[in-house]
Amino acid sequence: MMKVLHTVADSVLKHIQRSRHYYRKYNNTLPPRINRTYVRYAAECKKHYKDLNGEQNFDISPLIVDGGTLVQNAFPAQRAKAHVDKISALIEQKDPSVDYKDASGLSIGIKQPLITLGEDLLDVLHTPAVNAALLNFFQSNYRIEWATCYRSVPSEAIAGSWFWHSDSFPPHTCKLFLHLTEAMEDTGATQLMNREDTMAYRDAGYFGQQLDERYADLQDFAKEHKLPYRPFHNDANAGDATILDQNFFHRAVAPRKAFRDIVSFFFVPNILPWYEQLERDGIDSLTISGVPKDPHPKS
Ligand SMILES: [Fe+2]
Repeated sequence: MMKVLHTVADSVLKHIQRSRHYYRKYNNTLPPRINRTYVRYAAECKKHYKDLNGEQNFDISPLIVDGGTLVQNAFPAQRAKAHVDKISALIEQKDPSVDYKDASGLSIGIKQPLITLGEDLLDVLHTPAVNAALLNFFQSNYRIEWATCYRSVPSEAIAGSWFWHSDSFPPHTCKLFLHLTEAMEDTGATQLMNREDTMAYRDAGYFGQQLDERYADLQDFAKEHKLPYRPFHNDANAGDATILDQNFFHRAVAPRKAFRDIVSFFFVPNILPWYEQLERDGIDSLTISGVPKDPHPKS
């Protein structure tokens, strides 16, 4: 009996989380409790920022409308190249920091990139245009929740993030990809969809959340439901940064030639600036790549 009740409750909840009003409000299909927690916490951080710094005239963040934006020259290209060489050497030496857990063979990870490659990667966040773009999005301070690094390699097979999907993370969170190599159409640029199209596909029943409901290509779905199919990508050079709201539809693209190296940072709102929070928590704190149920910092 209890099992039946749980099943009914789960299906009612899933129905609510996939309703038009719900995903328009939160841009995800997570349970209400976690969404409300993040909305409240983001408001708390915004209020604190305003109380401390006065009323700010923030621009409308391109992440809210377009899903992603590119900041050029966010990190010195020469230093990006040095990190690429180091990653190549680590892979060649089969160093313990190399992570092959992506069974699809589409990417190779580097564990704890800020320790393995160097803390100088954090300099990307000191670049004024990057900080401005993140402040515009959060309208408050923010912290790094985790950082990962991976090399995408050419492959015919696709899996997971190579299908059209939404990460379905909590609201008021975003990611930054620091491009260590170029990422153009044939070298692994991530394809993105804007808010309008993401919502239109969800309205037509595409959620791309669970692995078994993701499509590699949405052109047939678009035709069937008379939807526009107009994904876009930003051509990135080594040292550029893509900042994106990972809850809009996107898909990774395997490079057709060479490889694509990125360092990915995941951000949540924060009371303290990221560098002060990091000072408290230490670089070791950035290794867990999940999304916390409670967004408050642990210290
Ligand atoms: Fe993703």
